Amino acid sequence: MSHVTVNPAILYWGTPVVLITTSNEDGSSNIGPVSSAFWLGHRCMLGLEHNSKTTINLRRTKECTLNLPSDEMIQQVNALAKTTGSEPVPDIKVALGYRYEKDKFGVAGLHEQASETVQPPRIRECPAQMEAVMVGEYEMMSSLPGEAKGFTLAIEVRVTRTYVLESLRLVGHENRIDPDKWRPMITNFQHLYGLRQRNGEESTLATIEEELYRLPDC
Ligand SMILES: Cc1cc2nc3c(=O)[nH]c(=O)nc-3n(C[C@H](O)[C@H](O)[C@H](O)COP(=O)(O)O)c2cc1C
Repeated sequence: MSHVTVNPAILYWGTPVVLITTSNEDGSSNIGPVSSAFWLGHRCMLGLEHNSKTTINLRRTKECTLNLPSDEMIQQVNALAKTTGSEPVPDIKVALGYRYEKDKFGVAGLHEQASETVQPPRIRECPAQMEAVMVGEYEMMSSLPGEAKGFTLAIEVRVTRTYVLESLRLVGHENRIDPDKWRPMITNFQHLYGLRQRNGEESTLATIEEELYRLPDC
């Protein structure tokens, strides 16, 4: 086996697609698809461009929902790609072929579902949904020169409520997800994938009781 040195422009090795809803100034809702997201406890870190409508709304209102599409929702995610709720469209996005889209739900054939702890609605078609509030931000790549500085933020949100389709629950457990039934959509170098079946071997990590990871809910 030989390794070679490579210098890819992006290092998108595979992370889940998250559809973030936020509230616009006029009370309507926006959807921003992202894939720079990871979770620890009930906190989520989101990697966001500073000038996306999602970021602007999130910093203003401090509220969002995180909706996870299944790997079958390619059409809906593609319909949202290269659209922005920002008007005028930022120059960099014009150059990349983005267009302004006011009605993200309509253009993607998605439907609003009222949230219980935040203003932005959940997305009915997504099997897993979380409501969340923003609790912090960190400027990424602050050493870059010129306009690149401040372009990307890591935003921390606290999940306030989580919903899944009943069918995703692990039988016999009120608060566990069956990983054999949950099929997240994964971004893999800009392409959309699903997960393969679980490998035959049992995970050693999974011998740890899941409840031992639970942290105080605040
Ligand atoms: C599958 C997918 C993954 C994306 N991942 C990210 C990401 O992680 N961070 C980001 O800032 N933009 C990401 N984008 C681009 C955003 O969707 C884009 O910035 C868009 O303008 C966000 O919409 P908004 O401006 O209405 O908030 C992704 C787009 C798609 C389709």
